[in-house]
Amino acid sequence: MPFPTDFTWGVATSSYQIEGSPLADGAGLSNWHRFALEAGRVLNDDHGETACDHYRRSHDDVALIKELGVDAYRFSFNWARIQPNGKGVVNEKGLDFYRRLVDALLEHGIQPFATLHHWDLPAALEDAGGWLNRDTAHRFADFTEIMTRALDGQIQDWCTFNEPWVIMHEGHVNGAHPPGLMDLAHAPIVANNLLRAHAEGVRAYRANGCHRIGLVVNIEPKYAASDSLDDQAAQARAESYMNRLFIDPIITGEWPQPLVEAMGEDAWRDVLDESTAPLREPIDWLGVNYYSRSVVRHKDGGFLDTETLRQARAHTEMGWEVYPQGLTDTLVWLSERTQGLPLYVTENGAAFDDPPVIGGRVDDQARVDYLREHLHAAAQAIEMGVNLRGYFAWSLLDNFEWQFGYSKRFGLVHVDPATQQRTFKDSAHFLREICHANT
Ligand code: FCB
Repeated sequence: MPFPTDFTWGVATSSYQIEGSPLADGAGLSNWHRFALEAGRVLNDDHGETACDHYRRSHDDVALIKELGVDAYRFSFNWARIQPNGKGVVNEKGLDFYRRLVDALLEHGIQPFATLHHWDLPAALEDAGGWLNRDTAHRFADFTEIMTRALDGQIQDWCTFNEPWVIMHEGHVNGAHPPGLMDLAHAPIVANNLLRAHAEGVRAYRANGCHRIGLVVNIEPKYAASDSLDDQAAQARAESYMNRLFIDPIITGEWPQPLVEAMGEDAWRDVLDESTAPLREPIDWLGVNYYSRSVVRHKDGGFLDTETLRQARAHTEMGWEVYPQGLTDTLVWLSERTQGLPLYVTENGAAFDDPPVIGGRVDDQARVDYLREHLHAAAQAIEMGVNLRGYFAWSLLDNFEWQFGYSKRFGLVHVDPATQQRTFKDSAHFLREICHANT
């Protein structure tokens, strides 16, 4: 496949999904660990007490990444390991864990891509109002300052948030993630506070004279089910809510109008009265997590008067349609919206019901096909002129998939939950060949 020679190949994970030992060495409780321990929140009441035991096996896992042959590793910090109460004193032992991880990556010649926040918030901050509280943005800036001061000499690429939309929607509108709230009226407040936190984080970072910093958003391109005006308007609402809410204010300083209209200006009053100028902090790159698309039409009484239509095509175990063309479309769309900002695919992958390990092998042909088709789609975007700089597969390991617990396996590397034994799946071998052939 025709990728530029300086293209970055990587794999991605996040702290709560793989680390385990969430309270070790003086760490505070995170909102995700607390939520997972509440009965009925996560499928089978799974939680991240052990997860992939990465906290204790990080050295071996770095060797595994090296064996995979990728150039880069995208991971995140559990904030509560560093600031157990979300503010004030730094827990040096927590910081040491990440120092050791980054040292090991650099020793192996693997470029660290660090995400400051991938959903696990110190529970103390959630108790103080979390993302509904404006003050959390300042706390995030302090945390950014601590991390970038401690590690910026070693980490060139930073990112503030992973998928702020998911924090807003799943946590405050849909209730499937902590804090488990369900009210669309939270959306403007939480979106504004997350974007304020992002911008304050970027400013704190620049004050330390650092390297490159970006943001990672999830994009699920929306296609109208028909040419009717109603369906086109439904498409615009769905796109504004999911795909534009965390990009437009940064790039153009405007909240997406179709969403403001759909919810009514009153719902947005406080946010609209505030200047968006502080949100327009320039970023060095934008990451996109792409998994699927949706086809939408108008439906009175549906969420934002829209409805998603299930397509008669292949779906993954998550119930997500396999639609590689959507990745090309997304990259082209983002490239236009951001005027050629460097882009990365920071997550792409699939959960399938993998066959068992037989003779040291996992024949996950469905995932190999998924990756191959999506890499072709990414290559096509590059041919169309998109400034795409890298691709990270989700995920290095089978891990804790949020409200679905361990039931969904996204790993290129199989993890036996009983023994923690790691086994390369065929998809891991596939990615290794692709990286090798393209670097
Ligand atoms: C993304 C998340 C990641 C993982 C994948 C499947 O939304 O960023 O942590 O759960 O989905």
